Amino acid sequence: MALAEFIETLDRLEAEAGQSLAEVADAGALEAVRVKYLGAKKGALKEVQKQMGRIDPADRKAAGMRLNAFKSSVQAAFDSTSAKFESGGHGGIDPTFDPTLPGRRPKLGHVHPVTQTIEHLMEIMGRLGFEAAEGPEVEDPHHNFVALNIPEDHPARDPLDNFYLATARSGDRSGDPSGDRSAEGSQLLRSQTSTVQIRVMENRQPPIRVISLGRVYRPDQPDATHFPMFHQMEGLMVDRGVTMANLKTVLRIFANNYLGDDVEIRFRPSFFPFTEPSVEVDFYWNGAWIEFGGAGMIDPAVFEAVGYDPKQITGFAFGLGVERLCMRRHGITDIRDLYSGDLRFLRQF
Ligand code: FA5
Repeated sequence: MALAEFIETLDRLEAEAGQSLAEVADAGALEAVRVKYLGAKKGALKEVQKQMGRIDPADRKAAGMRLNAFKSSVQAAFDSTSAKFESGGHGGIDPTFDPTLPGRRPKLGHVHPVTQTIEHLMEIMGRLGFEAAEGPEVEDPHHNFVALNIPEDHPARDPLDNFYLATARSGDRSGDPSGDRSAEGSQLLRSQTSTVQIRVMENRQPPIRVISLGRVYRPDQPDATHFPMFHQMEGLMVDRGVTMANLKTVLRIFANNYLGDDVEIRFRPSFFPFTEPSVEVDFYWNGAWIEFGGAGMIDPAVFEAVGYDPKQITGFAFGLGVERLCMRRHGITDIRDLYSGDLRFLRQF
């Protein structure tokens, strides 16, 4: 085959392909054109390629170059037609797009009211010299009970009052709530942040001034003031000569900072196994006394459990309900609102 004839064929096919592409009306027709000219099995390009062997070897290089040029040119024409279909046939510009319209405001989340409260409480207590400490939410009975002077037969360890975990540890009867709840027994979701007192004292020497804010879990029936998961703020101060007067002063300054200057504070005698004496802490605000938590002087048995000498040092601890504080400050009447996930409620904070 003569080179001139070969080139002529390609010129004709290229013109035909261009014409066909200009006329296609939809993606189906476009695909048909592609198969006709560039198809791997029976496309025109393939057919012409077969003629290459019949060309004079001296002309083959020129023929190959023309063939490649044909291929690129038809492919480019196909690509640009295909792009038109993809962009709605308007050369990439959507005619319904109005660049003068104001943009859509991105929806930003914000910090949950309980988290806001936690940050606020940490800030107030930080100014009083208390640093933040943390402990695990899955606890062992040693930190949740034993070291807090809560013996094995104490009702606070009852399975009805705690979330024991079913995860087995070798050698115990975990998952069986009636089973082993000794120091080495079933782990549980901590029922109070007092566990962190123990963890801090086990690892440090006095003087200590820490708070710990975190989740605790109790199988309480949800109502307006109770939820099975809630938060506590634990405070711990240990040093030589710490007294009940220090405890009351810290709590009063805290209450005045969080709720206002007119808040009064009251202690009522109570009992906690890990404090002696123990008190319930009430704040007077807006015409009513409300209980916010428990407190007391650390029991010498707790100091002994962590290796401190109770003859040398004293200390106080308190544990306040974070949701109860948040609710009082913001006039929330039902704790369940905080955990309903209702954005109409949450957006108010
Ligand atoms: C305690 O948990 C003690 N660990 C407090 C303590 C710490 C005493 C240090 C002495 C020394 P109590 O069980 O009373 O105490 O709980 C403290 C506060 O947590 C309550 O006053 C209440 O504000 C809050 N609270 C208790 N149960 C719930 C619940 N189900 N939902 C929401 N808040 C709760």
